[in-house]
Amino acid sequence: MLLKRVKRLVILISGRGSNMEAILDARLPVEIAAVISNEPAARGLSTAQEHAIPTAVVPHRAFAARDDFDAALAMEINRHQPDLIVLAGFMRVLTEEFVTRYTGRMINIHPSLLPAFPGLHTHRRALEAGVRVHGCTVHFVTPGVDSGPIIAQAAVPVLPGDSEDALAARVLTEEHRIYPQAIRWWCDGRVKLGADDSVVFEQVALAHGALHSPGLDENT
Ligand code: GRF
Repeated sequence: MLLKRVKRLVILISGRGSNMEAILDARLPVEIAAVISNEPAARGLSTAQEHAIPTAVVPHRAFAARDDFDAALAMEINRHQPDLIVLAGFMRVLTEEFVTRYTGRMINIHPSLLPAFPGLHTHRRALEAGVRVHGCTVHFVTPGVDSGPIIAQAAVPVLPGDSEDALAARVLTEEHRIYPQAIRWWCDGRVKLGADDSVVFEQVALAHGALHSPGLDENT
């Protein structure tokens, strides 16, 4: 019988690390080879250490040029020989050369329903735009910022009187749900990057899997 090798993940963070923690708590059948941060003070580093996961810091401020930082980051990542690189609140824009090294095996979570609101301050911008539905997206990383092929999305309602924080918290709950699920799919070979930036799904219940819709109150 052919035994499937357990996939090795490297998770990149920059701060709090709640998505990383959700991935750890999901107890996926994977090996978390390392958690790497560009910020030495990232809170997620101590969380990873509490889980006995190797951590490393590649401090971007120590590098004069973006290329040099990316080269050092790639060297640290490759040391752990990961199958999948998971960006979880990693707040650096990566060069095209870096991204193309890991085509089809680097994914990101973004706190909006892409292609709406790429970039920063997504919750504030969603409130300003008056959208009634907001959410989060897991996507393959390609050279454009927040523009890679979409694997999964979850939507939440924007409620009257919502603050930025309240909306962010509602979205974050969904991030913690869909990111481990998308990673599981990738590791099981149920989702992959196809030709021409298509996303190929196998045995994924699209109605309830790759898209999570906000619940509608039937009484209103
Ligand atoms: C998340 O909302 C993620 O989508 C965004 O930054 C936030 C990071 O949160 N890119 P955490 O570090 O995972 O708690």
